[in-house]
Amino acid sequence: MKKLFQIVSVLVVMLFSVCIASSSIASAAPADTGQTFNLTFAHVVSATHPKGMAAARFAELVEERSGGRITINVFPDSQLGTDQQITEQMMLDVIHFNAPLHSTIVSIIPEFELFDLPYLFYSEEQAYAALHGTLGERFNEFLAARNLVGLGYWTGGFKQLTNNVRPIHSVEDLSGLQMRVSQSPMLISQFRAINAGGISIAFAELYTALSTGIADGQENPLSNIVTRRFYEVQSYVTISNHGFFVYPFFMSAGTYNQLPESLRQVIHDVAAEVASFQWELNAATEQEYLDHLYESGVVSINYFTPEAMQGFRAATQVTYDEFAQSPNGVELLEILRRYID
Ligand code: SIN
Repeated sequence: MKKLFQIVSVLVVMLFSVCIASSSIASAAPADTGQTFNLTFAHVVSATHPKGMAAARFAELVEERSGGRITINVFPDSQLGTDQQITEQMMLDVIHFNAPLHSTIVSIIPEFELFDLPYLFYSEEQAYAALHGTLGERFNEFLAARNLVGLGYWTGGFKQLTNNVRPIHSVEDLSGLQMRVSQSPMLISQFRAINAGGISIAFAELYTALSTGIADGQENPLSNIVTRRFYEVQSYVTISNHGFFVYPFFMSAGTYNQLPESLRQVIHDVAAEVASFQWELNAATEQEYLDHLYESGVVSINYFTPEAMQGFRAATQVTYDEFAQSPNGVELLEILRRYID
């Protein structure tokens, strides 16, 4: 897997150079006047989360490789707002970098709901290949249309279920539970399809929502369940792998367009390097997070069987039908099929 990340990251730098040159969003680079740039990277997870660590590394390497001409201040923990608010600020060039969960920006780019479809990917390798291939390029075009320059794709890995009511052995056990989802209507459809309630709550408010019973449960990768300490206020964790977290990493076009060619190259080179680092780190820390949950002794952990996965996938078929009817839906499902068949 490590080797795959490295090979693809070299290809990604080459691809980005071609794509950015031909993209309508990136204007010709201005002459280099020696200007310096003081930029902001905002995100919602903890600084110790694999995404938080990648953001810090990106800032550090860009400052170093630009000879101090670009400094990036990183604001973790939703300090500058939700992912949707941060992205809106980026479209106005007020904030410059983020790697939001795809589901949180579907009001801006509805096509990202593709990645909310249950059991879309069955391995990280499938997701990595699709995001670093034609599918990722197509999403870069959607970003460009919103004044955002795609710099690559990071990940949170697979989503798991937690709740306070009962262990979840099959899709039927979710019936009647009130499950928190992030901002994507497709996730509400997912839970509605299995007779559960889906309630949208901002990530920063999720711990309180779980501890006060506003939501019975939620879905997130282990990295968030542990670094946000959701397990402290939940009794059951189910390793279901029922969805995949994509973190599109992008920059505001307003600032990108002010960068001379040499600094644009620094941004792309470091972005490709840090993307490999982020995927590797995410994969490497999964077991540590699971061990942490077992050691905490406060949650009961169970695993979906292949039959339980099939049951969940079959019960939520309506989400695939809904997505196929949405703008660009058929085209995106068609591109995706090249990576999963
Ligand atoms: C994130 O991982 O960036 C946010 C997760 C969530 O909203 O559940």
